[in-house]
Amino acid sequence: MYTFRLRLHLKKETMTNDRSQIQGELEKRRTFAVISHPDAGKTTLTEKLLLYAGMIRTAGMVHARKQQKSTSSDWMQMEQERGISITASAMQFVYKDVVINVLDTPGHQDFSEDTYRTLTAADSAVMVIDAGKGVEPQTRKLFRVCSMRGIPILTFINKLDLPGREPLDLLSELEEALGIRSAPLFWPIGQGEDFQGVYDLRKDRVLLFTRSEHGGAAAAHMEVCSKAELKDRKDLEPETLEQFEESLELIQEAGNPFTTEEFLAGKLTPVFFGSALINFGIEPFFDAFAELAPYPSKRKVLISKNEESAIDPAEEPFSGYVFKVQANMDLKHRDSMAFLRVCSGKFERDLVVKHESHQEEQLRKGQTKKDIRLSRSHNMFGGERQTVDAAYPGDIVGVVNPGVFAIGDTVSLRGGYHYPPLPKFPPEVVCRLRPTDALKRKAFEKGMKQFRNEGAVLILETLSTTVQGPLVAAVGPLQFEVLQFRLESEYGVKTERETMSYRHGVWLIGDIDGFDKPSGALLAEDRDGQRIMLYTSAWEKDHAAERNPNVTFAEFLSL
Ligand code: G4P
Repeated sequence: MYTFRLRLHLKKETMTNDRSQIQGELEKRRTFAVISHPDAGKTTLTEKLLLYAGMIRTAGMVHARKQQKSTSSDWMQMEQERGISITASAMQFVYKDVVINVLDTPGHQDFSEDTYRTLTAADSAVMVIDAGKGVEPQTRKLFRVCSMRGIPILTFINKLDLPGREPLDLLSELEEALGIRSAPLFWPIGQGEDFQGVYDLRKDRVLLFTRSEHGGAAAAHMEVCSKAELKDRKDLEPETLEQFEESLELIQEAGNPFTTEEFLAGKLTPVFFGSALINFGIEPFFDAFAELAPYPSKRKVLISKNEESAIDPAEEPFSGYVFKVQANMDLKHRDSMAFLRVCSGKFERDLVVKHESHQEEQLRKGQTKKDIRLSRSHNMFGGERQTVDAAYPGDIVGVVNPGVFAIGDTVSLRGGYHYPPLPKFPPEVVCRLRPTDALKRKAFEKGMKQFRNEGAVLILETLSTTVQGPLVAAVGPLQFEVLQFRLESEYGVKTERETMSYRHGVWLIGDIDGFDKPSGALLAEDRDGQRIMLYTSAWEKDHAAERNPNVTFAEFLSL
């Protein structure tokens, strides 16, 4: 029989061990998303990460996949038919002792809301830029979301194997277009056909690459030499060397020095150059990413409306939040899944947790703080579900949603707090959907309720007597098509769509009594009871903002 003192000692010991085990696990984790404008090379780079991590033996599936019009994360019929990736999922694998959680985000800009929300689950981001094109519109938008959260961003300037813009010019564009300071950690040697490798500024070494026999399907051979040795190389054109030396000297004298503090605060981005297609500069970039990208740290929580606190990922028992809900992911298992980002403690299969809902409707019914068993937990690789027995901060776990989880909900062992609501983004298109068969109204409403919980679109009630609701608002029209497709295939409801002329939605914060509303605008309410004004033009919106200085026009909510 143990004495009370000994039992206490043993208990303390296990708690300390648990804490240090969790600390050890979380320090190994890098949870990130790749952001880019379509075609900059996000898929190719992610695929190369899988190649260098030993998860796939050969790369080069991107092209083949595009031709087959399906990808490993394309599980929905519509995605396969169109060859686009609509839904974001996450992949986990080990790269040189580091556990990588890469959040897959849909490439098509009509689904950017899903991408924006997924970014809340990331601790850092890799921004891919096409060296020929520079900063493109979608990069700008995604960058803005990352910088609002202050997450660290690493920049990979891709396609150096093609003739492109001057590296110095690209750096200035980064700073001017995005307002972030840049500090190159690699500097390219040659460009286009002359692209030979990169100079590693931190380690003062030259990394030269040779194309593998299999194009970019296999790792490229890398040779390390000093800057002085570069002069003796016969395969380097004298002009290439001269240009490299000149621009390097400029950047070393006038460029921003890299500091970890500024990088972690999201104020400075380390810049890398390379080619994801032929694997030049790829492995040292991944190594630098593993070294520099942060592991999960403290996260803000709300204890009450006005009281905040911070959750330490190793100290606090299990907690996390739902950043994505998706029904009918797999037609074999017609169920709804909730994706959790683990924020603290150890997640174990069948854990019973407290569920704190954000949904107004449930709050009104007093359905919050329910105890729920997190059963059938799994992660996804491609379309395959793999059971998850344990997970740590930074990990993404899919659990079967017994119809209670909505995006933004918090689950935790201790209860009593919740993670801040997920951001909402301004809709750019609005329509009204009606079932073509009036008898299908019930199934239609069921489907719409599901989509509302998934947060894929905004379902708005109009506050006008002339325009009847409900209206559906989204970032891009493709979202409506997906909605109609899913209503038909999952709920058996054919619908007709009436496109409305509203293009700009803004949430109104403050007292709107006496609001001077343009006659063409429409006032509506979202699922959280927040008021949103829909305008037909940017001019109308800006003009209304000028005439109503006491009301805040919020384009992004709750970040
Ligand atoms: P995305 O996910 O950001 O949309 O881009 P993705 O990786 O699909 O790449 C878009 C295209 O750019 C692909 O060509 C890909 O092979 C090419 N690409 C990616 N990285 C590089 C690079 O470093 N250098 C060069 N030269 N090309 C790169 P594609 O659409 O399959 O067309 P194709 O070029 O095979 O005909």
